[in-house]
Amino acid sequence: MDNVTRIGVSIEPELLDEFDELIIRKGYSSRSEALRDLVRDSLAEQDWKNPEQYMVGTITIIYDHNTGNISERLMQLQHESNNHISTSIHVHLDHDRCMEILLVSGALRELKELADQISSVRGVLRGRLTMASPTTAHIHHVGHRHTV
Ligand code: NI
Repeated sequence: MDNVTRIGVSIEPELLDEFDELIIRKGYSSRSEALRDLVRDSLAEQDWKNPEQYMVGTITIIYDHNTGNISERLMQLQHESNNHISTSIHVHLDHDRCMEILLVSGALRELKELADQISSVRGVLRGRLTMASPTTAHIHHVGHRHTV
């Protein structure tokens, strides 16, 4: 690997044993690789705690298009947030259900608000927001489940 800094880490033997077990379970090829992943994860977690962090992602919803005026409501919400939605994909899953995937970007807070708004429309069966910070490139899932 190019351009790496080697560091020495002091760690209790019991903790190291547990870490080694985790490394085997997750299939890492080395302690260094596992440690790098952990560091990236905790850095990314910091991003996800910052409501103003710029994120890119997707909002995926599954809904029943027969419910009330759901199609117009979803369309209206998307037009109101057109500055955060770059494009969308609509798939007709079966006779009643549709899946829509919105490609979104903006402040973490805004994307969460938008996902909540869209997921809470009556008739939306499942809503999921997936975000990645372009700087740390780790993916974060925020799921919502609704009963019909
Ligand atoms: Ni459809």
